[in-house]
Amino acid sequence: MTTATQRAAATSANDTAGARLRCISCGAEYGLQEVVYHCVSCGDLLDVVYDYPAYEPESLKRQWLARRTSLLPIDQSGVWRYRELLPFLADEAAIVTFPEGNTPLLDAPRSARHAGVHHLQFKHLGFNPTGSFKDYGMTAGVSQAKALGMRAVACASTGNTSASLAAYAARAGLLAIVLIPEGQVSFGKLSQALDYGALTLQLRGDFDAAMALLLDIAPELGVYVVNSVNPFRLEGQKTVMVELLEQRGWRVPDRIIVPGGNLGNGSSYGKCLRELFDLGFIDRMPHLTLVQAHGAAPLYHTITGNDPETLVRVHARTLATAIKIGSPVSWRKAKRALEWTDGWVTEVSEQEIADAKAIIGRDGIGCEPASATTLAGLRRLIREGTDASVTPNEEVVAILTGNVLKDADYTVRYHTGELYEEFVTETRVISANGQVLPHFANAPVPVSATREDLTRVIGEHLTRSAEP
Ligand code: F0G
Repeated sequence: MTTATQRAAATSANDTAGARLRCISCGAEYGLQEVVYHCVSCGDLLDVVYDYPAYEPESLKRQWLARRTSLLPIDQSGVWRYRELLPFLADEAAIVTFPEGNTPLLDAPRSARHAGVHHLQFKHLGFNPTGSFKDYGMTAGVSQAKALGMRAVACASTGNTSASLAAYAARAGLLAIVLIPEGQVSFGKLSQALDYGALTLQLRGDFDAAMALLLDIAPELGVYVVNSVNPFRLEGQKTVMVELLEQRGWRVPDRIIVPGGNLGNGSSYGKCLRELFDLGFIDRMPHLTLVQAHGAAPLYHTITGNDPETLVRVHARTLATAIKIGSPVSWRKAKRALEWTDGWVTEVSEQEIADAKAIIGRDGIGCEPASATTLAGLRRLIREGTDASVTPNEEVVAILTGNVLKDADYTVRYHTGELYEEFVTETRVISANGQVLPHFANAPVPVSATREDLTRVIGEHLTRSAEP
């Protein structure tokens, strides 16, 4: 933690266009040069806030669209193209960009039918350079690390943050340190951290333990934490909303559905929608809907329980390892986002997640398990409603957060009927409990390497697919 003197010096040495950090609870403010993640007075989370100039929304919208044809790397980025909404860097030379973003908005008729709605689109953030939504935030977090002159950047992670951080740190020439729970991160994600050269620490503990330990030791070691507790990272992530609205010609959807883990992503969307509304870019708010896995649903239990002001921590269990989190650091910001957008939080079972993922696959889209909570959650909302009813005519956008290749093991196990809520494996399943049923299985078909067999099997398939 910084001392009061360091803070005073830092505050006077900055700032960028009225940008500063502000506590979401007590309103205490800090300068942008301070390395601080929680309010020194009350311990709550911080926002980056700005004294925005009086923007003319229509002309800025035109300018953002025009930047899509520019050859400048910061214009090609789906984050920095909208830099007027995140003006925290004094010098654009600090920006570390691939570029990221520019992810597609896809119609998905089979998925819409599965959920029981008429208008469903997926915004697929798995099309990013490292295959997940984290890149939107990491470009901002690592650029701030560079601007601060940090040498090392660190995160605790269920896999995607570590992959993204490792890549951006490598591009920036910074040392990346990642803490991951041993045996609970998919190989796709682990392989990325290794390949991009991060110091990869496999902790004998869960994500929540890794997160708490990192926040404890980071100040002493002088490493910069870029988990979503870092408010600069969320500034990058929030631009997903701007990109999405631009792709829809600024037509606001009725509902936006987001998976919830550490709860940074949904929080950043809430902040962005609020800013866009206050600045006059949109004239109504969509309902933000967060979805958690049944065994990792602390926010759901908190909001629907007796005391919504106290987080109900859980010992997280889910096969959607990306969101296997029992004590999310950004839960208060997520709750605020739900309040601002008249939103909702729901939970879904392992079976619902797995089936939804297979259906998203059938639309030719695919995603990792955590992302499929969105479709599963929408289906639940249509059947059960929220505190207000949900109608099939709503225009819904679901946010897919990770690429289908991130967790290939899960996908193959589902299609071959070998996915279990609890299992021990050594090249094959050796003990298993709680099978997730392959309702939409597409198992590989074994066939001998002969002309006759191959012709017979394909022929049978052609006949079957021609049947009405
Ligand atoms: N979807 C995927 C694919 C994720 O990797 C994560 C979080 C989430 C959803 C949830 O987002 O935490 O902002 O609520 N992954 C983090 C990680 C925790 O370490 O990669 P959130």
